[in-house]
Amino acid sequence: MRTNEPLARHTTLRVGGPADAYVEPASEADLAAALGFCREREWPFLLLGRGSNLLVRDGGFRGVVICLADAGFAGIEVTGQRLTCGAGARLKAVAHAARRHALTGLEFLEGIPGSLGGGLRMNAGAMGAGLFDVVDAVRIMDFHGQVEERARRDIPVAYRSCPLFRDHIALSAALKAQPGSHETIAERMSQFSQKRWSSQPAAPSAGCIFKNPSAIPAGRLIDELGLKGTRVGDAVVSPAHGNFIVNEGEATAADILALIDLVQQRAQAERGIALETEVEIVGQD
Ligand code: EPU
Repeated sequence: MRTNEPLARHTTLRVGGPADAYVEPASEADLAAALGFCREREWPFLLLGRGSNLLVRDGGFRGVVICLADAGFAGIEVTGQRLTCGAGARLKAVAHAARRHALTGLEFLEGIPGSLGGGLRMNAGAMGAGLFDVVDAVRIMDFHGQVEERARRDIPVAYRSCPLFRDHIALSAALKAQPGSHETIAERMSQFSQKRWSSQPAAPSAGCIFKNPSAIPAGRLIDELGLKGTRVGDAVVSPAHGNFIVNEGEATAADILALIDLVQQRAQAERGIALETEVEIVGQD
């Protein structure tokens, strides 16, 4: 547990002021204790995964940031065609574990730069597949520390959202895969990875910054509006992909928010489209 922990260290955008307190529980009991501590004092708390879809404002977070980064939450166990994975496991590690066991269906997780818990919370997806397409069951904790298992059929999901996680924390999930061949799985993973590297920037970002509106993919819209390369400070609309804002070095959260606002205003004024952020925005100015 640390105090005044800079959250820029824990987000892929590398911006964000300090959290009053930052804790990495090592077990479910630790997590329940941290939640109890916050509940008794009525302190706000924020669950953090790999910070890959998170924009923390420059004033930081008043309360406790709980991060499931400890090895106790990162296990991946393979039994037959099921992978039971801790919420802190990286999606990339899950994809590679499936490949090692010659299990197919999870290749698309390879390039999603997040943890399983964060991916569940936002119903992450890539390459035409969504995380909940491969979930069988999820083990969850409510904010009072009660643990239960929920079957996939009892979990409603929507595009880039899963309402269950408004008041529950993912502890682990059982994912289903099918038997496959090492070569085909490795080939699919390499194709996905090539597609990603040829169309997405490598510089620090939060992945796609906006949800895709139904009318047009956000990246194409921003491209058509001629906004690629637009900058506020060190925050830049990526020249590689219009739906990414990259931090070229010293960007602040305020720079990124100003750039988001500029893009939203242009999309609204010129095309009548309200772009909604996909990235979660938290903290104080
Ligand atoms: N496009 C352009 N210009 C650009 C960017 C894209 O014209 O600057 C065009 C592309 O040519 C394509 C279309 O827009 O015709 C869609 O682009 P892309 O195939 O890159 O997919 P996307 O919809 O922008 C989605 C996910 C990504 C995921 C990719 C690959 C969302 C908001 N984004 O991107 O997820 O990696 O597919 O599967 O759903 C994320 O969620 O953070 C994310 C990066």
